Amino acid sequence: MTEEINHSYDGGLYAELVSDRAFTTRRLENWTSVENSANGISIAIDKTTGPSEALPLSLKLTVSQADTGDPAGVKNDGYWGYPLHPDTTYQGSLYAKADDASIGPVTVELVNDRTGAVAARAVTAPLTQDWKQYRFTLHTGAIAASIDNHLVLTVAHAGTVWLQLVSLFPPTYRDRANGNRVDLMEKLAAMHPTFLRLPGGNYLEGDHIPERYEWKKTIGPLVDRPTHPSPWRYQSSDGMGLLEFLEWCEDLRIQPVLAVYAGYSMAQEHVTPGPDLDPYVQNALDEIQYVTGGPDTKWGAERVKDGHPAPFPLKYVEIGNEDFFDRSGSYDGRYEQFHKAIKAQYPDLQLIATTSVKSIRPDVIDDHFYRRAHEFFSDTHHYDNTDRSGPKIFVGEWATREGSPTPNMGAALGDAAWMTGLERNSDIVVMASYAPLFVNVNPDAMQWSSDLIGYDAMHSYGSPSYYAQVMFGEYRGEEVVASSAQDAGPLLFWSATRDAAKGLFYLKVVNASPKPQPLEIRLDGASIAAAGRLITLKGKTTSDTNTLTDPDHIVPVTRPITGLGSTIHHTFAPYSVNVLEVRTK
Ligand code: AHR
Repeated sequence: MTEEINHSYDGGLYAELVSDRAFTTRRLENWTSVENSANGISIAIDKTTGPSEALPLSLKLTVSQADTGDPAGVKNDGYWGYPLHPDTTYQGSLYAKADDASIGPVTVELVNDRTGAVAARAVTAPLTQDWKQYRFTLHTGAIAASIDNHLVLTVAHAGTVWLQLVSLFPPTYRDRANGNRVDLMEKLAAMHPTFLRLPGGNYLEGDHIPERYEWKKTIGPLVDRPTHPSPWRYQSSDGMGLLEFLEWCEDLRIQPVLAVYAGYSMAQEHVTPGPDLDPYVQNALDEIQYVTGGPDTKWGAERVKDGHPAPFPLKYVEIGNEDFFDRSGSYDGRYEQFHKAIKAQYPDLQLIATTSVKSIRPDVIDDHFYRRAHEFFSDTHHYDNTDRSGPKIFVGEWATREGSPTPNMGAALGDAAWMTGLERNSDIVVMASYAPLFVNVNPDAMQWSSDLIGYDAMHSYGSPSYYAQVMFGEYRGEEVVASSAQDAGPLLFWSATRDAAKGLFYLKVVNASPKPQPLEIRLDGASIAAAGRLITLKGKTTSDTNTLTDPDHIVPVTRPITGLGSTIHHTFAPYSVNVLEVRTK
């Protein structure tokens, strides 16, 4: 599950390196002047000119004196640094205009914070008096990799320059323009996900109705995206717009679970069901058409224009987010209105309600759980007695919240124990998605502690909970195998599954106790080979964890295991999550 929180995209997955590139908070954040005392320079937000209707203001730089030996300009600190690697190409662009063409070009440099050494330099074409986009390429040489760098834009003549949408991208995952960070995408791919719930979360709703996620304002050229305030207390650049979310899914070969805004924002603001809600319903229908429509449809054609001719697969649409917080009780009516309109046009879509409703029967209900490990331990049978006649269940947000900024081994045990229960009940629990996925570990960047993957501008790591997800994702059976255990202690949890097509059986065992635990499991539903492999994730204590500086402290370790049969005996390590993988006979 994903949303813009903890700098998940800006300063996270979205690979843009320039922070505050559009100045839409109307304050200069992360931009300062670069000058000698003799330059006489001023920088300010100019609210009267910008390159587009969406970006109507700009950074105004006035220089009273400069020459090639003494340039003047502005500096940007990026998202807690600029991550530079040796011998690497960075693609840049900026919008600019000048009061007079005599000001010449803009020089763009990547500069080391400590030494002042220039790691890469480019010069744009000379500026004109009209807004124009300039592209440039920066290539580093034999530098040491580091995040201690900044970006500098200077001019070598006196005059006034206006700047907007300064942008710089490193190489991205699958070389997508406006794309994603490679290390973070690789970590997501290793989780073997099958879907991504987007775009939130609170981010979908916004604090107030005008601050909701308005997908139409997040598509098309970046210069036409006005940006918007995220409920997590910072402005979202919307560089990660709807199409980028969909391409993210495409790159991981997974499906989006599309959450549509349903007329409720978190400050208890709602749209009354009936005619007032119709435009919001239409907006959701347009969104579904943008995702799935052919080139002959209005919004399908818009997607083609945006560079993606093929429609995206879509099976699930979620109507709102956490509408149990809406104290007005309007969700029943709002849900029904969306449900009927969407089903009328897209009868095959599975529709998800965010809480139970009486007006109409949703296909799926989204349940959320943020808990301590002991709460999950005592609730692994949560769905054992759920009515199998439906609706189906989607656990759309959940996590054991222990550890900060990322969860520790104790949290991984809580998660894994809970997942054995989800797995055993996967006839009714059709999907589950951990939340939140990401945190930029810079303390100023985090709004929510306990996030699956941590990073700074250059490095990233998976928490123990991340590796629990990797194990459950990678070794995922297609059906539950009947099994029973002898003498399982209260902190032992297991589930058995198999993938008939692959001919593999998986036994997952969680020992959340501080002692080695012998376990005898009888398989009634599968016949297995005598030897396989055991993958184990374990910590010495529950507070054991991974960090940016010790990213591989707790990682899964694989070893062979023999002596298997219709009864499996094994002693499982203290504080461990285990997967036994073995061929079926
Ligand atoms: O995952 C963090 C937040 O928790 C989500 O935005 C919201 O849906 C939930 O309350």
